[in-house]
Amino acid sequence: MTKKVCIVGASGKLGRYMIQHAIDRGYEVVGVCRQGSVGKLDDFKGSITVVAGKTNDRAVIREAVAGCDAVLVVLVPWGVQQYSSGTAQAVMDFAKPDARLIFSCGWHIARDGRDVYSWKLKALVSIGGRIARWLRLVELDDQVEACRRIFASDRRWTLVRGSDLTEGESQGLPVWSRHVGDPMLASNITRRIDFALFMVAAIENDELIHEAPAIVSRLAPSAMACTFQ
Ligand SMILES: NC(=O)c1ccc[n+]([C@@H]2O[C@H](COP(=O)([O-])OP(=O)(O)OC[C@H]3O[C@@H](n4cnc5c(N)ncnc54)[C@H](OP(=O)(O)O)[C@@H]3O)[C@@H](O)[C@H]2O)c1
Repeated sequence: MTKKVCIVGASGKLGRYMIQHAIDRGYEVVGVCRQGSVGKLDDFKGSITVVAGKTNDRAVIREAVAGCDAVLVVLVPWGVQQYSSGTAQAVMDFAKPDARLIFSCGWHIARDGRDVYSWKLKALVSIGGRIARWLRLVELDDQVEACRRIFASDRRWTLVRGSDLTEGESQGLPVWSRHVGDPMLASNITRRIDFALFMVAAIENDELIHEAPAIVSRLAPSAMACTFQ
């Protein structure tokens, strides 16, 4: 039977790559995006169903995830409106009990205190996060809260932690580690198209259930160095 997959945050860069990968795999796709962004999905007109609305609107999520076997969620900390936690909570509350739930975030999300961060990333999150919060642009704490709830959940979740991102052709499925600070991740770069590929491939990979993989491009120098050791 054809799998039905909901993509929350479908109109963004990551979302649109995920739609294409999901279509390529023959999945039926439902995309959720803000009303004003529906036009960004024109390329997929006729191929997907679009549910328009804010992704932290529980009624919107309830409608969109109905009957879906998997939900791919772009967790974003934009605005000061509990966007990430509201979105994640609604997905966990309304998705089918056995649905695969796959969330995106960045390396800055720590699960068990065993990640090792560069001073650059620590400074960016601490100082940049505070300034952005003060400007009411970004609410990083809420993304952290969303991930805390995901980690505590017994749903079939995976939280994919992306490195710095770049555009370009696919280099294949990224490699991953349980902890930031693993030398394999040191290059800190992944093509966005491959971040999306990892998210979509996770639907069929039960080994990733209850994991928070930190990813890097398989062709990044640090990944190549570890692969060929
Ligand atoms: N960018 C990076 O370097 C980077 C690095 C590591 C991990 N990540 C992770 O990768 C994922 C995708 O990030 P991305 O940077 O590539 O972004 P993206 O895919 O372009 O997605 C941004 C999303 O945020 C929505 N959005 C923008 N402004 C908003 C607002 N004011 N209120 C509500 N929603 C708003 C967009 O919706 P509209 O289409 O409606 O505008 C879109 O769905 C995220 O989970 C992020 O944490 C990103």
